[in-house]
Amino acid sequence: MRYPPIPNPLFIRNRTNFAAQMKPNSIAILASNDVKHTNTDDVMGFVQNNDLFYLCGIDQEETLLVLYPDAYKKENREILFIKETSELIKIWDGEKLTKEEASEISGIKRVEWIQDFEMVLQYMAFEADAFYLGHNEHMKRVTHNQETQQDRMIAWCKKKYPLHDYYRAAKITRHLRPIKSAEEVQLMQKASDISSEGFKKVLQTCRPNIKEYELEAELMYHLQKEGAIRHAFKPIIASGKNACVLHYQTNNEVCKDGDMVLMDFGVCYANYNSDTTRCFPVNGKFSERQKEVYRSVLHCLKEGSKLLKAGVAHADYEKNMANLIEAELIKLGLLDAQKVAEQDPEKPLYKKYFMHGTAHHIGLDVHDVGLYSRTLEAGMVLTCEPGIYIAEERIGCRLENDYLITENGNVNLTEALPIEMEDIERLMA
Ligand code: GLY
Ligand code: MN
Ligand code: MN
Repeated sequence: MRYPPIPNPLFIRNRTNFAAQMKPNSIAILASNDVKHTNTDDVMGFVQNNDLFYLCGIDQEETLLVLYPDAYKKENREILFIKETSELIKIWDGEKLTKEEASEISGIKRVEWIQDFEMVLQYMAFEADAFYLGHNEHMKRVTHNQETQQDRMIAWCKKKYPLHDYYRAAKITRHLRPIKSAEEVQLMQKASDISSEGFKKVLQTCRPNIKEYELEAELMYHLQKEGAIRHAFKPIIASGKNACVLHYQTNNEVCKDGDMVLMDFGVCYANYNSDTTRCFPVNGKFSERQKEVYRSVLHCLKEGSKLLKAGVAHADYEKNMANLIEAELIKLGLLDAQKVAEQDPEKPLYKKYFMHGTAHHIGLDVHDVGLYSRTLEAGMVLTCEPGIYIAEERIGCRLENDYLITENGNVNLTEALPIEMEDIERLMA
């Protein structure tokens, strides 16, 4: 592993909180993700199912977590099933976790080999009334054409035990995971600190005619060197008008003298993420117009993020941000105040230059689980990411920080990433 072990009290506490929300006499089964394949025998790598990781900290494929808090036999209350290392696995891939190691990581006393899962479950299922099963739920992704181990578990379990009741484990985790514990915040802080180092190195490297993917390479080199396990997502390194493509990821073009680069990137450290966006001039000096736009976006970030605080409704935060950006668009001469006053509220004019939400939960997932209908609470970590995109001027500017909501306001976890224009110009000089 590329990170020091996470002390297991975090996972023990998470399981206690999860169990407290389960219905009486029910069993939860969480399954790991698959190792994703490319072609023939090559693989894309492995990223754990975050609900399973949250509850046990095991970062290995072919893992099953079974929780049965009301089990009559004490040894059945928590069981972890893991992959057994064969001679072949030892020679080709190296040792998988031993039962002792898995027990130490998770704090779960009973660890079994995964091939014994069906047999062990049989007795427990006979006693239980219901199952909680995992499923990769997302409010916006409507197509889902990759079968996961969780999908196979749902099919298998419902076929084998058709008359039990079934519930969504994700409904519980989406309630628990948005509130971060101190250990989780520390890991996210580390992710942000690593990203700060990477960003400063990119500023020192950038110059006219460098390619976007060269900046990506520089970023990746330093993030990995500092202990990131991977990018939190494929970074967006968009120069000039590319910055107006919200999910630009080809990162193929030459950075031209006079243009600005938008870099939206994140670090995954110990499976926890940062997500930050910064903009900088290719030649090290912002033009007057770039300064105007940048100043507007920075103003919206500073003012808008103040509303990321306990007791505020997410929709009210977003409405306030939209109002701030609208006012800046008028100041920049991009919108006409009179027309804005007369606009159809269903089709606000600002959407031409600003067309996305500006706060999402972040944690084990970059777009972390959590309901937007839930009022903000202390312990939540959200991004704040206003932007203004003016394709006809080759300027796209977004600035993004990550904020921990506390009892009194919020803390910027990404404070270390330079954001003032003078600091950026100084670092590029
Ligand atoms: N990089 C995706 C986002 O900022 O949400
Ligand atoms: Mn981002
Ligand atoms: Mn974001």
